[in-house]
Amino acid sequence: MKGTACYSKTERNFASDFIENLEPYSPISSRDKIVSGLANCDLPPLKLDWNESTLPPSVAVKNAIINALACNDNLLNWYPELSSKELRRKLAAYSGRAMEEILVTNGSDDALDLICKVFLDPKDEVVVPYPTYTHFLTYIHTRGAVVKKVETPDPFKPDIASVLENVTPATKMIYIVNPNNPTGVLLSKQQIATLCSIASHCVVIVDEAYYEFAGETVLDLIDTYPNLIVTRTFSKAWALAGLRVGYLLTNLSLIAQLSKVLNPKSVSVLAQIAATAALDDKQYMEKYVTDVRNSKIAMLDFFRKRGLTAFDSKANYIMVQHPRLPKLLEEMEKENIFVRDRSSFKMLPGFFRVTLGDHLQTEDFLARMDKVLDRV
Ligand SMILES: Cc1ncc(COP(=O)(O)O)c(C=O)c1O
Repeated sequence: MKGTACYSKTERNFASDFIENLEPYSPISSRDKIVSGLANCDLPPLKLDWNESTLPPSVAVKNAIINALACNDNLLNWYPELSSKELRRKLAAYSGRAMEEILVTNGSDDALDLICKVFLDPKDEVVVPYPTYTHFLTYIHTRGAVVKKVETPDPFKPDIASVLENVTPATKMIYIVNPNNPTGVLLSKQQIATLCSIASHCVVIVDEAYYEFAGETVLDLIDTYPNLIVTRTFSKAWALAGLRVGYLLTNLSLIAQLSKVLNPKSVSVLAQIAATAALDDKQYMEKYVTDVRNSKIAMLDFFRKRGLTAFDSKANYIMVQHPRLPKLLEEMEKENIFVRDRSSFKMLPGFFRVTLGDHLQTEDFLARMDKVLDRV
């Protein structure tokens, strides 16, 4: 072709400018190490790095999947029920909202991505209190929007004033994780209401991934604030991280916009069956949440007695500070314990985040930790 030279003039990798400049989200999980057997195999692994449930889903959930596979020949070759109607009906009963106010997504990550796709234009400003769940930043950048990180003076104190100080007429969206990951801090409903009211020109996302552990929600503010969207997940208290189910709740007007882009077949058949069965077996989740709360008391007490700083949290994890963190993490791995190093956040020097399990796992964890701390 005559014009070949002009095609080869710039070496393109075909990515959009936003993606080309995107800093990739680089998840660090112990899963591969554990599964590949690289970890110390004498002791059962304690995977406490991603705030997943430390227990499998209930027998009722497993049976629902097995029975559905046994009873329906076309279960897997057909696409799933569009828009997860049955699951949305159950979620309506669980959340006390109408099913029309709910969209089910492929994990709550997918809900966050959808919200960014629908409400952000290039160069829009998004206010994000920091430190927080950083994967969300990728979705903002993918849209070519701009992140305005707000580092509050004390990351372990609920602080709405610092957030509001950074909201300007150019702000399009605010992302609040409540309770926050990794700090475990919970903003009150009144604080969220203030935010929605003052920042009425912004979409306010309240990410309630850890709602079941906190036991507090801002859902009813949807009736008052037309700019509020709440996201939730089945990956934590419901023990279904591997199946990828999340959902969002908001008013009908925003649902109409979001529905234009939502892929109605993105939640798999098995994921819908499992999440529906989990909601039918709510006591199992509730017992686990109670266990986790008790574990938190034991863990905080243990670390504090060992002279370490450990912060209380409204979620299924706590943050602990250690003066020799790299050495500590190395020694923990020798005991087959995996936690999340959070010290790369400027405001969290020497901190690791540890997911809480049930009482037996906590006893086991504390016994191993006792030995580790004696060595470090
Ligand atoms: C605050 C927060 N939001 C969302 C997610 C993603 O959850 P999902 O598995 O539903 O995509 C996580 C996962 O760790 C999280 O901590």
